[in-house]
This record gives sequence, C-alpha cells and structure tokens, in this order.
Amino acid sequence: MKTTTGYSGLQIALHWIIAVLILVAWLSGEGAEEAMEAVEDGGVAGFVPHVAFGLAILTLVIVRIVVRLSRGAPAAPGAPGSVSVMAADWGHRLIYLLMVAVPLGGASVFFLGLDVGEVHGLAANLLMLVVLGHALMALYHQYVLKDGLLRRMMKAE
Ligand code: HEM
Ligand code: HEM
Repeated sequence: MKTTTGYSGLQIALHWIIAVLILVAWLSGEGAEEAMEAVEDGGVAGFVPHVAFGLAILTLVIVRIVVRLSRGAPAAPGAPGSVSVMAADWGHRLIYLLMVAVPLGGASVFFLGLDVGEVHGLAANLLMLVVLGHALMALYHQYVLKDGLLRRMMKAE
C-alpha cells in the first residue's frame, strides 16, 4: 500500500459525505421492518429513502476503496508496528468491510428477498458502534494528544 503525506481532497470529501449518509441511513432504518411489510403489500414509497441512501453509500464506498488502493493513505501516527498503529489500521479495515457488507446485506433483503434483515440491522448497529469509537479516538488525538490528527481529514495534502 502506498504511503502518502496526506489525504487528497477527493478522499476527504468522500470521508465526510459518506459519514453523513451513513448516519442518515442508520436513522432511516428505524421502522424498516414495518416498511418492508408495507412493501410486500405493494406500498414501496415510505422505504425508498433508506434504500436510496444505502445504495448511494455502497457506490461511494466502492469509489473510495478504488481511490484508497490506487492513491494510498498517510501512515497512522505512532511507531510503525506498534499496538496503536495496528489498532488504527485494523480498525479502519473493519470499517471498510462493514461499509460494504451492511448495504450488501440490505440489498440482499430488498432485491433478493433473503431472510437476513436482522443480521443487516445488527451489522449496521455494529458499524455505528465502531465508528463512534473511531470518532472518539480522532477527538482524543486532536484534543488530548494534540497531534493535529483531525487536520488530516480537513485539509488536503
Ligand atoms: C460514519 C462515520 C465515519 C466513518 C464511516 C469513517 C471512516 C473512516 C475511515 C475508513 C478512515 C480511514 C481512511 C483511510 O486511511 O483510508 C477514516 C479516517 C479518519 N477519520 Fe473517519 N469516519 C467517520 C466519522 C469520523 C468522525 C466523526 C471523525 C472526527 C471526529 C473522523 C475523523 C477521522 C480522521 C481524523 C481520520 C484520519 C485518521 C488517520 O489519518 O489515521 N471520522 N475514517
Ligand atoms: C450503510 C448503509 C445502511 C445502513 C447503516 C442501514 C441501516 C439499517 C437499519 C438500522 C435497519 C433497521 C434494522 C432493524 O430494525 O432491525 C435497516 C433495515 C433495513 N434495510 Fe438498511 N441500512 C443500510 C443500507 C441498506 C441498503 C443499501 C438497502 C437495500 C438496498 C437496505 C435495506 C434494508 C431493509 C430491506 C431493511 C429491513 C430489514 C428487515 O426486514 O428487518 N439497507 N437498515
């Protein structure tokens, strides 16, 4: 994987757009089960926003992964090979995995009629939990360690 001095403008834009969309998709997933019953009865309208946000996320995440693999990213702060760097790297990999798996699970329910609605909901909650930890770590770096980490996701380099 290529190591860069910072994230590009495109990477930063994708990070924040996807973050907002995931929050909206998660909030609009509430009541999805009832909405699916309505879908089965022929009324789809109420459920369109959740599916649209979810599919937008899936598309943008694929673009994001392609950009990540081709352009690379800056190394996590800390000594290479240290526990904190490994935790950051594996934490980010887990987020990428969930950002693909959650919408794919939702699509399997919606388009293929697979009975994985509950797994989709649980995986979405897990994603939110991991991302909450991620945001807290980012704030810890910024305001406790004061290493300016947040600036990396604000200003392109
Ligand atoms: C749904 C919400 C979010 C998701 C899915 C998400 C996902 C990610 C991922 C996957 C990375 C790794 C990027 C890479 O190296 O390729 C990352 C980096 C980063 N995120 Fe988030 N993030 C979210 C919310 C936030 C929030 C709320 C903050 C700030 C409070 C934040 C701050 C950062 C920072 C500073 C980095 C750069 C870390 C570094 O350079 O090592 N993120 N984010
Ligand atoms: C990151 C993107 C997504 C997030 C965070 C998310 C989140 C959620 C949440 C929290 C629920 C409620 C689960 C429950 O009540 O137990 C839900 C349900 C559902 N979502 Fe998503 N979702 C996403 C993407 C998608 C996509 C792309 C689709 C379809 C193409 C989709 C289709 C569904 C369906 C069909 C249900 C109802 C499942 C059931 O039968 O209980 N979701 N989603």
